[in-house]
Amino acid sequence: MQAVLLAGGFGTRLAPLTYTKAKPMLPLLNKPMISYIIEALPKGTEIIVAANYRNEQLEEYFNENGINGRIVKEEKPLGTAGAVKNVEKYIDGTFLVLNSDIISSLNIRKFIQFHMQKKSFATISLWPVENVEEYGVVDIKPDGRIMKFVEKPPRHEAPSNLINAGAYCLDAEVLDYIPPNKFVSMEMEIFPRIIEDGKPFYGFTFDGYWIDVGRHSSYIEATRILLKNLGRKYVVGKSEVRGNLKYSSVGDNCIIDEGSILDSCIIYNDCKIGKNVIMKNCIVAEKCIIGDGAKLKDVVMGEGEEIEASACIEGEKIWSKPLPEGYPEKQIGNPVKR
Ligand code: GDD
Ligand code: MG
Repeated sequence: MQAVLLAGGFGTRLAPLTYTKAKPMLPLLNKPMISYIIEALPKGTEIIVAANYRNEQLEEYFNENGINGRIVKEEKPLGTAGAVKNVEKYIDGTFLVLNSDIISSLNIRKFIQFHMQKKSFATISLWPVENVEEYGVVDIKPDGRIMKFVEKPPRHEAPSNLINAGAYCLDAEVLDYIPPNKFVSMEMEIFPRIIEDGKPFYGFTFDGYWIDVGRHSSYIEATRILLKNLGRKYVVGKSEVRGNLKYSSVGDNCIIDEGSILDSCIIYNDCKIGKNVIMKNCIVAEKCIIGDGAKLKDVVMGEGEEIEASACIEGEKIWSKPLPEGYPEKQIGNPVKR
């Protein structure tokens, strides 16, 4: 069976981290986010990555780690369904589609079994949340049949609290619903049409954990959940840590100097954090420098940025360089309606 990993978004909500990195390559406990999805696939699954923005980083990662997979680049972003249509020639039957920014305990084997048992045309994984307006929401019957799918509805219009958890098992004929060579959204266009046509469209709920790593806060939350699963308070690569870490991860070649305290922070490679620095809920991309005595809360630093000694910063994104060429000014695709 093939699995199409949707990996072509710009990750605008994760800027400035995504100014220099493809979203699926952002590290979670020092491993690219996409690696968790790959590890969850049943053995023998053929991987097809539908990529676009900074696809070369994915190619390099696959090559260096001997991961078998086909990375297909879209000339321009085709949306969540257009990207699937674009890899149609590699699909030879029922197949999976997976968002690459989800960390979850979904058992993909059971998910596929459910799809087969129900003789479903399209099956999606579901998860309950409170902030439904940020997701695709379903109206579902007790037997799991989905009667309605609305992408990012205003809260009062949401038919339930069950949302699209970003994993699909699809009959190959779903591809016939998607027009070629154009921007098409699975959530806005294809799912509603499948329902309209009366095709069996089912939702699969599961236990455990689920998190969309699409925002800074959920990125930090995902790190916490994964640490908890490992029964650890922090992970550190080949780095020198003289300070204190809580619910944090630190990559390779970093120095975290004496007296510093990091709580719920993600530090990429090659960073230098001075003495007596206090940080909470911060994400620091590669090659950043933070001066002695700085106090940072809810701060996100893009690659190669610097914060001077004794600075006191809260709730800021640090990026001093021009936007990378071609990077959109705002979110494209299916943004939350305000
Ligand atoms: N190849 C390709 N081309 N991939 C894309 C494109 C594109 O044009 N646009 C988005 N993607 C990828 C993203 O990289 C991500 O892995 C996935 O498709 C979903 O896109 P997001 O931009 O992260 O969407 P979202 O988080 O706002 O909403 C989606 O996920 C929610 C669950 O986290 C929707 O599927 C919602 O219905 C769902 O609830
Ligand atoms: Mg997302």
